[in-house]
Amino acid sequence: MSKMKFRYNGAPAASLIADDLERKMAWYRQRGHEVPLHKLIKTPEQIEGIRLSGVVNTGVLDLVEAAVRPGMTTAEIDRMVYDYTVSHGAVPAPLNYEGFPKSVCISINEVVCHGIPSENVILKEGDIVNVDVSTILDGFYSDASRMFLIGEVSDEKRRLVEVTRECLRIGAEAARPFGFVGDIGAAIQRHAEKNGYSVVRDLCGHGVGLEFHEEPEVAHFGHRGTGMLLVPGLVFTIEPMINMGDWRVTVDEVDGWTVRTRDGLPSAQWEHTFVMTENGLKVLSH
Ligand code: MF3
Ligand code: CO
Repeated sequence: MSKMKFRYNGAPAASLIADDLERKMAWYRQRGHEVPLHKLIKTPEQIEGIRLSGVVNTGVLDLVEAAVRPGMTTAEIDRMVYDYTVSHGAVPAPLNYEGFPKSVCISINEVVCHGIPSENVILKEGDIVNVDVSTILDGFYSDASRMFLIGEVSDEKRRLVEVTRECLRIGAEAARPFGFVGDIGAAIQRHAEKNGYSVVRDLCGHGVGLEFHEEPEVAHFGHRGTGMLLVPGLVFTIEPMINMGDWRVTVDEVDGWTVRTRDGLPSAQWEHTFVMTENGLKVLSH
């Protein structure tokens, strides 16, 4: 080994680390694994930009969490999200995204995701509500969602919300550097089904950061050891949608967005944005 490649303190130079990563990725590619393209592996500068976007995004969710109450319309929440985001120099990513008309997705009870805020939708006692916030700051995207319980909620719905939160945590814990995306989905599916619930198949987590939705697709079901190699520098969401009944969903034919459970039973979702590091996942927005 050439002495020139080492710094005085014995740490390998950046070029050597890059060579090492290249060799490692080639090894996996040769064995038939899906390996991320270079553009998906974020630089430290890009990760810092996404982290700062995530700080605003998390701030929006904290603001909503402090404000939600029975009697509030989802349009009021939409206005809070818009105002907070722009006053922090950022842009709500959903607004005008592929024609989405509002700044945030708000999904109540049997609505799985992509609910459109409206003056006509009023939060009521007993509802479980997902608020899904995505932010663009200086061109960097972040994405996270939380569930809120409105007033007194039945034990049945409360348990769905709790188990879904556990699914996100358990999925994140299953993600190891140089593991696979499928490790995440397998862990989530196991936990959901063990609790008598089903995992939505038609919608997934996703790479995020330079665009709203990038590769890889992060399914919340499937098999360990499959899917893209989890290379440090990958930034992606995990956002399990867990149904009390059947996993099948429908899309509203009129608005083209609102996703509902086919059987009308409740659904819950939690989402964080993560970066894979040499030591495992780190949260960038929650
Ligand atoms: N925030 C959603 C996600 O988690 C995407 C919503 S797309 C929108 O990926 F257009 F509905 F905002
Ligand atoms: Co997302």
